[in-house]
Amino acid sequence: MSTMRDSFQSRIGFILAAAGSAIGLGNIWGFPTQAANNGGGAFVFVYLIVTVLLALPALYAEMYIGNQTQKNPVGALQDACEGVSRNLGKYAGLFGLLGAILMLSFYTIVAGWMLAHALSPLMDLFGFTDAATWLGESSHARNLAFTPVFIILGALIINQGVSKGIERWSSRLMPILFVLLIGLIIYILQQPGASEGVAMYLQPDFSQLRDPMLIISAMGQAFFSLSIGVGGMMVYGSYMKKNANMGQLVLSIGALDTLIAFLAGLLIIPTLFVAQHLGLEVFSGDKLIGGPQLIFSVLPTLFDSMGDIGVYVALVFFSLMSMAALTSTLSSTEVPVAYLVEDKNCSRTKATVLVSLIVLIACMSIVYNFDSLFGLVITWVNTFQLPIMGLFYFIVVGWIWKRGNQLTDQALLASKPSLRLWGNYLRFVCPILLSIVFINVLMAL
Ligand code: PFF
Repeated sequence: MSTMRDSFQSRIGFILAAAGSAIGLGNIWGFPTQAANNGGGAFVFVYLIVTVLLALPALYAEMYIGNQTQKNPVGALQDACEGVSRNLGKYAGLFGLLGAILMLSFYTIVAGWMLAHALSPLMDLFGFTDAATWLGESSHARNLAFTPVFIILGALIINQGVSKGIERWSSRLMPILFVLLIGLIIYILQQPGASEGVAMYLQPDFSQLRDPMLIISAMGQAFFSLSIGVGGMMVYGSYMKKNANMGQLVLSIGALDTLIAFLAGLLIIPTLFVAQHLGLEVFSGDKLIGGPQLIFSVLPTLFDSMGDIGVYVALVFFSLMSMAALTSTLSSTEVPVAYLVEDKNCSRTKATVLVSLIVLIACMSIVYNFDSLFGLVITWVNTFQLPIMGLFYFIVVGWIWKRGNQLTDQALLASKPSLRLWGNYLRFVCPILLSIVFINVLMAL
């Protein structure tokens, strides 16, 4: 099938779309709470090292495969595995695709909570207090309403295509997100108690470095944050013109993602100390509260107690979260959509509807079996899916690809010594490092 593929229209559009996928709840919620509870600056330090040594190379490998093959992740991995077995590539691609659906199945539920919390202050402002209360309280009915709403929002963008949908919306939403984040940080840092939070965040407690779990947590966080392992970044790479300078692009995406995670730490941790200053309980034992209780109980209570301005702060904060989540779901939705369009001859609209329905069914299965499935799916995706696929990408780029005849001349075999060094780093060092960390994860289970 050789219909023209849609593509990103500019480098900056591509960077914003990929950064949009990377920057999400993982940055604004996951990173700050992990940092706060794992030695503050020491976690930030380890996170940076793991990101540079392993996560960025994995992102490079993922995007590179997409870019060189110019196909959806299933087709891309099939081509890249040509020299060994196309079937291996096909099943690996489908495994990634399943990961994308699983990732969407829990992420969209949480994103729906964010959206409900963003609408709640808006209802308050318009005087619909009952609706505001309903939106602000966790309920089965709210899940049933807001998970589909969020899926539909994503589907509307995906249906418009790569340049007119993903690129256009990411280019609009990411700058807004940045401005809102900076605005919130400036406001929060002026509140009483905030400086204690800044100190806790930035002062490294290096005694925590002895804990091997720190590296494991940092790696899991880095892979999730950079959206590695479900093919989303691969499909984005495939929409960039072939032989684009992937190294530079990956560095820009990594820098933006890390910057926003770092800035989110400057928002969330000081916010917790402002809350403590106002008498709220923000510690559980010696750890800062980090889970859903932080976002959906402590923060709304804090915003409520801020007086008139609180409702606006809540509106901005949860809008920021919703936007971050929305752009993050686009890349994983694009994986199965691109597969259906390219390999199964579906129209884009039909593929989008079908994928949305599948994601909806997956979400509802979790909503109805929340206690048993929600945590399980998250653990599966974060602990297994992402590192396993990361490892596979290294093996494809470093080993399998070389054996194919189709793409050999493209695949990291350039004669420049610097490139050869980089190729050897991806071939030998990355898979070994990642395997060591992964084995430690398994042993820690
Ligand atoms: N990177 C996103 C975040 O930090 O919230 C999560 C994510 C998005 C993971 C897309 C995987 C993915 F394909």
